[in-house]
Amino acid sequence: MGLIYVSLFIGQMRYKLDEIDSTNKFILSLSKETPQPEGTLVSAEYQTDGKGQIGRYWHSEKGKNLLCSILLKPSFLNPEEQFVMSQMIALALKEVIGQYTTEKVSIKWPNDLYINDDKVCGILIQNQLKGKFISKTIIGFGLNVNQADFPQQLPNPTSLFQQTGQVFDREAILQEICDRLEHYYLLFKSGRLIEINERYHEVLFRKDQVCQFRENKTSIFEGVIIGIGEYGKLRVKTIDEVRLFDFREIEMIL
Ligand code: BTN
Repeated sequence: MGLIYVSLFIGQMRYKLDEIDSTNKFILSLSKETPQPEGTLVSAEYQTDGKGQIGRYWHSEKGKNLLCSILLKPSFLNPEEQFVMSQMIALALKEVIGQYTTEKVSIKWPNDLYINDDKVCGILIQNQLKGKFISKTIIGFGLNVNQADFPQQLPNPTSLFQQTGQVFDREAILQEICDRLEHYYLLFKSGRLIEINERYHEVLFRKDQVCQFRENKTSIFEGVIIGIGEYGKLRVKTIDEVRLFDFREIEMIL
């Protein structure tokens, strides 16, 4: 019999909303008004102004997917090390998604979840600083669960339904995500960052493969992802050097 781990603090305080502009915005303003315990979770059936990375909009059909934000308080975390937050939530999601499909699930740097070459989940992390340290982290994620069709303009979305033809219990999936995230957060709190980093590298999308990249929205070049460097930057080996890229500087051409 396997061990069943149930989260102790992530998701224990829960706000279940029908409709909101953005769960990230909601939890941020709520926690400013009234202090919320670490692990507080907000979920919504629909977002009218869902936030994606780099100012993009996050699309999700009403009542089909998981749209959630979790409040953590890693007050001991130096902002320079904040990439570990991305690694932990991405790993938690990767493991849970992997239980629902036999297809290959990987983490596309920095923190998108892919099933083969399609995006099934996006993550948006927002930090608040107090002095030199991070006082609050809002981890927002949108996981496409039961949505059957997506607008054509989205580049390469997928859902668990599209992958398997099955409709899933979103609450059960969410509980597993809370459990896995808590597992990684406790590893992190006990100083086991190397394990987290190694695990992340093992499941990194197209690691050690030749890929095409677009740099600063203009020039195209070829290189091999060899891993993650300082501040969570992507390390790419080109024909003559190893270069480090920030999220905004580079885009992988799929
Ligand atoms: C991305 O662009 O890949 C990140 C998408 C993050 C979307 C989630 S949905 C729940 C949470 N609330 C938001 O407004 N955004 C995040």
